[in-house]
Amino acid sequence: MRAWTVDAEGLRLSEVPEPALRGGGVIVEVLASHLPAYTKAVVTGGRGGLPLPLILGPSCIGRVTAVAPDVFHVAPGDLVLDTALLNAGDGDEILVGWVGLGASGGNERTDRMREVWRNGAFAEKALCAKETMVKLPGAEDYPDPARLAFLPWLCVAAAGLHTAGPLAGRDVAVLGATGQMGGAAVLLALAEGAATVTAVGRNQAALDRLAELDSRVRTHQLTGDRATDAAAIGPVDVALDALGATPTADATMAAYDSLRVRGTLVLVGGVRQDLTIPYGEFMHRRLTLRGSWMSDDETVRTVWNLVRSGVLDLSAVELLKTGLTDPDSALDLAERTSGLSFVALVP
Ligand SMILES: NC(=O)c1ccc[n+]([C@@H]2O[C@H](COP(=O)([O-])OP(=O)(O)OC[C@H]3O[C@@H](n4cnc5c(N)ncnc54)[C@H](OP(=O)(O)O)[C@@H]3O)[C@@H](O)[C@H]2O)c1
Repeated sequence: MRAWTVDAEGLRLSEVPEPALRGGGVIVEVLASHLPAYTKAVVTGGRGGLPLPLILGPSCIGRVTAVAPDVFHVAPGDLVLDTALLNAGDGDEILVGWVGLGASGGNERTDRMREVWRNGAFAEKALCAKETMVKLPGAEDYPDPARLAFLPWLCVAAAGLHTAGPLAGRDVAVLGATGQMGGAAVLLALAEGAATVTAVGRNQAALDRLAELDSRVRTHQLTGDRATDAAAIGPVDVALDALGATPTADATMAAYDSLRVRGTLVLVGGVRQDLTIPYGEFMHRRLTLRGSWMSDDETVRTVWNLVRSGVLDLSAVELLKTGLTDPDSALDLAERTSGLSFVALVP
């Protein structure tokens, strides 16, 4: 079969043997995978180490074709989301086929996990660990399964937003709303009944598109000045930071400043800066600062039900399809794609 493999020389399209079923495993026919905007940085080592060689790809929408005898929660014919997340407990987590280690940051146990479950989903077929498979009941009837490749980003955004409690009737801000994670967070907050959603980013065209979604959307184009940005964003009850790698923490701290008393700032983005939190002020404002990584099966089911019922309409997201044939062009396209657009790899 054809697959995107990465080794010391980089990423390429390869002909590889079809995966063979083994204990704890599920074989899926890959229907579509989201190609994250920053995949080029992942392949070139800019986002942490990949275990090489491997088949790349952190998640997919797939159709189950075979399951090992010890797998009971999915069956051949089911449409599933592959979350890629394998959790051994105590902070030892890996993303199969991708960078990203859990709270432990990696050790001998996560090395062993990556040895056994290494290959990802940018391929025609994938062997997945049963723990990464979440069934999507009724997805067989969804008009365009490739569009469902946006589900993983919606689920990560949802898991982050849900740490702040119910969103209905509350004012929510999304930092980096002009990226795909931020765009997903805006859609989710609207679907779950936020009173207002303030979309914050640099790209004015992407902000304008978000404003067209719903009259509850407000937009703010980042100025780079923390006080000015905070005044324009807030006051809000919940702020979700979904920014990519920024050179300073100013935009994140503007979101922090914009919180109401008892507000929550949730960090899910790619900012790798230290945050300076003033102890007394944090205490008196009774704030909450939360981190959130990836998603859980229950959140996947909640998000799928929002999509399935039409409460969250994925037609708001522009879908750009690409095949396996030309990895370099596909990565270029993904890099240029942001906001309410995403690239789905359809093998
Ligand atoms: N917590 C988790 O479980 C999880 C899971 C997946 C991904 N992530 C993280 O989520 C982040 C966002 O993902 P993404 O797919 O949306 O793609 P991304 O390309 O990494 O993020 C793009 C967003 O970051 C903004 N941005 C980038 N550089 C900036 C700068 N110097 N100043 C201000 N804003 C800047 C962009 O703003 P403009 O477009 O307006 O310029 C856009 O809103 C990623 O970095 C990734 O690490 C986290």
